[in-house]
Amino acid sequence: MISYKELGLANTRDMFKKAGKGGYAIPAYNFNNMEQLQAIIQACVETKSPVILQVSKGARNYANATLLRHMAKGAVEYAKELGYEIPIALHLDHGSDFEVCKECVDNGFSSVMIDGSHLSYEENVALTKKVVDYAHQFDVTVEGELGVLAGIEDDVVAEKSTYTKPEEVEDFVSRTGADSLAISIGTSHGAAKFKPEQCTRTEDGVLVPPPLRFDILEEIEKRLPGYPIVLHGSSSVPIEYVTMINQYGGKMKDPVGIPEEQLRQAATSAVCKINIDSDGRLAMTGAIRKVLAEKPDEFDPRKYLGPARDALKEMYKRKNQDVLGSADHA
Ligand code: G3H
Ligand code: 13P
Ligand code: ZN
Repeated sequence: MISYKELGLANTRDMFKKAGKGGYAIPAYNFNNMEQLQAIIQACVETKSPVILQVSKGARNYANATLLRHMAKGAVEYAKELGYEIPIALHLDHGSDFEVCKECVDNGFSSVMIDGSHLSYEENVALTKKVVDYAHQFDVTVEGELGVLAGIEDDVVAEKSTYTKPEEVEDFVSRTGADSLAISIGTSHGAAKFKPEQCTRTEDGVLVPPPLRFDILEEIEKRLPGYPIVLHGSSSVPIEYVTMINQYGGKMKDPVGIPEEQLRQAATSAVCKINIDSDGRLAMTGAIRKVLAEKPDEFDPRKYLGPARDALKEMYKRKNQDVLGSADHA
């Protein structure tokens, strides 16, 4: 058993309490490799922001779970070395079953998500409660989910989203004991969050998605005052990265994200955690394509991964400062 406390990590309880009171959201950024982790830590130290490092099942398969844990421990030391101590949580993203959650709790994670959103309501309650009962023995916090997001979540691909039913949230939270709840109010995973026919178009052809269902969020907030809500699928798919990718040989079709002003609005409400992965992928890919296109003789990975890391860091800093509002709250 490796406790996250030995690694210098924090669970999400205090982070969420402060975020809820302060009207901002904690960034939850996914990482799979060293450059992504460096960019996240550098950005969050420089903006003095708390951060949740998210690891998906795909990331565990790609990078190796043991290595990821050591990287998270290294990140705590690295942040100190950069000169400012920030609260860092290590969180399992979209845990699919009890076993994977237990494995993470037993191996240094400070927070886990059990994603029972595809199960029946009663099965979701039972599974989430089982994870909570286990995780709480070790002071590990647990995120549950009600409602289904469209898009790809690890091996689960949902064609259609199902909004969270506000009338279920009090029962779910009281019966499971979950520390936070991911809800579905119109966000979606990936870089093509909506089909063009679901969107309107601006004069210059940019797709505008249907607005988030703030009415559902408000209703949930009324029923669970002060309780931390989580938004998945919250990349904004910035046009500058899409343009860069396509300018240098990429072929991204119908990219569409969640407009930043809507995320900003959500961050001032009960939403205490905002998940962003796809935007980081876009920033890195755009920067790498640019270097390789402009310098075709380059073959040192540091020469394209370095600029990718810089682009990523700038993007995260901007998110913390201008979208989530978490800057200066560490
Ligand atoms: O919600 C999904 C995250 O973006 C993780 O994606 O499973 O490809 O690592 P992944
Ligand atoms: P995006 O695909 O919008 O970045 O969402 C990431 C996410 O929800 C990770 O759990
Ligand atoms: Zn997600």
